[in-house]
Amino acid sequence: MANPVDSEVSRRGVLVGGTATAMIGILPSGQVQAQSARSDAARQDFGVSFEVNGKPYSLQLDTRTTLLDALREHIHLTGSKKGCDHGQCGACTVIINGVRINSCLTLAVMHQDDRITTIEGLGTPEQLHPMQAAFVKHDGYQCGYCTPGQICSAVAVLDEIKAGIPSHVSADLTSPPALTNIEMRERMSGNICRCGAYSNIAEAIAEAAGSKT
Ligand code: FES
Ligand code: FES
Repeated sequence: MANPVDSEVSRRGVLVGGTATAMIGILPSGQVQAQSARSDAARQDFGVSFEVNGKPYSLQLDTRTTLLDALREHIHLTGSKKGCDHGQCGACTVIINGVRINSCLTLAVMHQDDRITTIEGLGTPEQLHPMQAAFVKHDGYQCGYCTPGQICSAVAVLDEIKAGIPSHVSADLTSPPALTNIEMRERMSGNICRCGAYSNIAEAIAEAAGSKT
């Protein structure tokens, strides 16, 4: 039978070994400074003007600033969320000139003169947008972190369908798409909900689309 002292030592050994391995990954401070100097040298600021929720903004930004960071850190509209920062979760979805986009995947300086709508611009606490009201009515959230992106996406999805824009699962490209379950699942597939509120989100979208109450 294993000696409990030995197994304690070996557990400790594993922990110490793991910590040492992690420490190897930490750069010496000189190297960190050199990297940060290189990053400063690469910095280039650029002016950009756009409209967010009906208000004009003119910003001077590092060209590497994403639209999401411009909205959150510079304009202080924190409704759009940073989930993955890699275009994989949809929490940062905003609507630009009527089209939804992952704001973490686009640079702010690419949006000169664009019309940007964030969750703050869709409705107000006193007067919710019909999609916001439907999410509240159908409990389309739990923690709420994905909700601003889900709602912005859902609003744009209904507009896409109204405009007759097909998706990857539209079987018949000659007739306008309908908001079937499969269409909605496909169109909303870029918006992940870690809480799994999908069935309530689907009901909310169906109600806002007028196909359910
Ligand atoms: Fe943009 Fe996840 S934060 S897609
Ligand atoms: Fe929590 Fe969607 S409500 S991640």
